[in-house]
Amino acid sequence: QGHRKESKTMKILVLGGAGYIGSHTVYELIDAGEEVVIIDNLETGHAEAVHPDAKFYKGDISDKSFLNEVFQKENIEAVIHFAALKAVGESVQKPLEYYRNNLNSLMNVIAGMREFGVKNLVFSSSCTVYGQADVLPVTEQTPRKQAESPYGNTKAMCEDIMRDFAKVESGMNLLALRYFNPIGAHPSALIGELPNGVPNNLIPFLTQTVAGIRPQLSVFGDDYNTPDGSPIRDYIDVVDLAKAHVVAIRRLLDGKNKANYEYFNIGTGNGLSVLGLIKAFEKATGEKVNYKIVGRRAGDIEKVWADTTLANQELGWKAEVPIEETLANAWKWQQALMKK
Ligand code: NAD
Ligand code: UFG
Repeated sequence: QGHRKESKTMKILVLGGAGYIGSHTVYELIDAGEEVVIIDNLETGHAEAVHPDAKFYKGDISDKSFLNEVFQKENIEAVIHFAALKAVGESVQKPLEYYRNNLNSLMNVIAGMREFGVKNLVFSSSCTVYGQADVLPVTEQTPRKQAESPYGNTKAMCEDIMRDFAKVESGMNLLALRYFNPIGAHPSALIGELPNGVPNNLIPFLTQTVAGIRPQLSVFGDDYNTPDGSPIRDYIDVVDLAKAHVVAIRRLLDGKNKANYEYFNIGTGNGLSVLGLIKAFEKATGEKVNYKIVGRRAGDIEKVWADTTLANQELGWKAEVPIEETLANAWKWQQALMKK
């Protein structure tokens, strides 16, 4: 059983577990029988998204002594670190806040893990590290490009911190998942994406438009070099993404990792355009999306999608939820929100 400690009291610490992807991951971990402790400062997360069976500490992990108190009190065997600020545009306006929060948090986490003998970490990275890749789909060997935003740069820097730390701490296992575009919601509609204010991302803006909260969805450009002219992304269902964390943690706990720093693409392997996604949403839900083509959004890349061979083979993980089901769940979640 590798270096897994077979004790019922060993727990998984989920940092940012009240956020979008963290809350879905906690649901999957608890379904898989794990005991979960969450830390979240609720800056962008929501108390209602905290799974009722998880133990919750409200606090900020850029405060090292607070974080270490939790390591001291709880018997933690692995950490999943989602806690970060993630708004690309805001990061351009507030670079210091982004560097401070995202970098200090990771450094506190790995220092705390070393101090308290916790050996396993899964970290949220992003396909943003590839920028506009020259060759598609991107594999893990695709060279990273200079980040377009301070946010993107924090992901590249955090990966580098993990790589450098792993070189000298051979007993610790660090694993980064490079997410493509996470969308959708838990099929129960108990949790989902809940942005504060006007959404930056496509799906919450789209569902809020269909719900009548926003008058119209702007499609940012139809003059790209793609079949229909709109940009292409790899949209990954948030529950599939959550399950990737469960298998990644299992890989580390079972000692199956091949190096003490590893990274994997987590996407579907399929590229979908913005206009294609709107059509798929209309088909899946029977709702009409009121949209208008407008100019390009600054900083957007034209197209990116994942080669997921490595994750498929090494993690034994594969995206499973069909896009129509993902979009139907996103709409179901938006409708559930309207009833609250
Ligand atoms: P989110 O904002 O919903 O979740 C992040 C959570 O972390 C929030 O609940 C927030 O309150 C908490 N948090 C932030 N800083 C904290 C701190 N210092 N101390 C304690 N809690 C803190 O975002 P998400 O979409 O769930 O993203 C999770 C992770 O995945 C982030 O690291 C993000 O950068 C990364 N990621 C997200 C996407 C995406 O499109 N959603 C894509 C790639 C990578
Ligand atoms: N889009 C619109 N209208 C909108 C919002 C988005 O047309 O109102 C388009 C964008 O131009 C883009 C696509 O929808 O082509 C997806 O946009 P999102 O903002 O949902 O996602 P991005 O691909 O821009 O960004 C996401 C994450 C970032 C991460 C990046 C990495 O939100 O955190 O992927 O590529 F850095």
